[in-house]
Amino acid sequence: MTQSTRVRRMIYCATACLAAALSLMQISCDRQGKRAAAMSNSPVETKDQRDARMEWWREARFGMFVHWGLYSGLAGTWKDKSVGDRGGMEWIQQRVGADTWEYAREAVPRFRPKEGFATDWAKLAHEAGAKYVVFTTKHHDGFCLFDSQYTDYDARDMVGRDLCKEIVDAIRAEGLKVGFYHSVIDWHHPQYDYDKANQLPHPLHGKSSPNGPRNHDIYVDYLHHQAKELFSNYGPLDIIWWDYSKEGNDGPFWRAEQLMAMARRLQPDIISNNRLYHIPDIEKEDSSGRLRTWKPEQGDFTTPEQTIPATGIPGVDWEVCMTMNTTWGYSDHDHQWKSNETLIRNLIDIASKGGNYLLNIGPKADGSVPVESVQSLQAIGAWMKVNGESIYSTTAGPFEKLDWGRCTQKRLANGKTRLYLHVFDWPKDGRLVVPLASGTRAKARLLAGGKPLRVVADKQQFSIAVEGEAPDRTSTVIELDLDGPPTVVKPAL
Ligand code: GLC
Repeated sequence: MTQSTRVRRMIYCATACLAAALSLMQISCDRQGKRAAAMSNSPVETKDQRDARMEWWREARFGMFVHWGLYSGLAGTWKDKSVGDRGGMEWIQQRVGADTWEYAREAVPRFRPKEGFATDWAKLAHEAGAKYVVFTTKHHDGFCLFDSQYTDYDARDMVGRDLCKEIVDAIRAEGLKVGFYHSVIDWHHPQYDYDKANQLPHPLHGKSSPNGPRNHDIYVDYLHHQAKELFSNYGPLDIIWWDYSKEGNDGPFWRAEQLMAMARRLQPDIISNNRLYHIPDIEKEDSSGRLRTWKPEQGDFTTPEQTIPATGIPGVDWEVCMTMNTTWGYSDHDHQWKSNETLIRNLIDIASKGGNYLLNIGPKADGSVPVESVQSLQAIGAWMKVNGESIYSTTAGPFEKLDWGRCTQKRLANGKTRLYLHVFDWPKDGRLVVPLASGTRAKARLLAGGKPLRVVADKQQFSIAVEGEAPDRTSTVIELDLDGPPTVVKPAL
């Protein structure tokens, strides 16, 4: 132990005691606050207040996710062998069953962030049309990108830089909102009790603890202290994105109520996902499980992962998080990139159902973004530049299903409705049939360039005359202005 590490440890112990005392005081303040709210019988937040807080997020529709940490340098390879060409390589420590020291020995020397990497990310997100960026402050491996006084296993100690600050500053400089992904699972902390947290992954599962019995409460204190650092040291924070919990290891297991109260106290406008709690069906297509289980007190939005719910989730804020290939953290071996068309259509599909799209990049150890991701984000950006109006600030379309594409909508100030018809399959017979009442009065034009289109509202059906090839093969957007709310009819068989 060097002199400076010794000093650091002493400071750590002193601060831990102080923080524990403060957190006791905090618990009593929280209790008093809650008692006051309960006594006055007033809800913590009214619907209007909540709507105001959620407004920017609902309008944004598109965010960029970043998974970056020690695993990025391993890049899917462990001791010269590929760990596989599919799946989350941010889990590499767990996949190879390495303890934290062996993992750190392999990974730390490879993690070499270049200067200015964060500015490149932020500019890329901006160029793509994303309105917010959520990045990993700490993933399951426990390595912190932020400067924490509670651990040496952070970027300040290992790399000599507060990478979290660099990233936050860069994102803010681009005028984007900032979100912290923070893992409640921790494969590094010596008191993270993986026997107790047995519903959750840990590289040492099945093996005895190398440092003897563990004390879960000490780890949870650490989790809370670090959350406080994140909520206090980086200015206004827009999103906290917790990850993740399973039945039995959720909510009270993390003292979630207290964590969320702390978030609201220190960052009153913060928006939070609900992964401090167990959410079933997160990776299944059917949204009914999520629909039934979403509870506002568990977080503001729910997070279907790698899958787009078949229908929207009315009354629930949701965000699909998704990789561009199959891994969140960078891998040299995963080449299963989604096409630009798929990514753009996913964004449209999600917006047409009323959700947000959080699309992931997994930068390399130096912070550079894989060229495939750069190109795809630029392609999305080019499409959004022309068609963004049909995504931002829209709500779910009124139709259950459209054979040729998707629809988003906006209520206009004068009681009119604007529908954005996203045509994936351009009609070959020159008629785009829209399941609206045949008498509907409407004006149609191409969003790109504004060319007017003829509306044919005959007795049988409502259609729009289109000709030739699709102007945009990914999705051509037609703007359709209606005098009032749409009257939807079942499409003729
Ligand atoms: C899962 C994975 C994790 C990833 C996250 C993104 O929970 O454990 O590796 O960060 O999903 O949603």
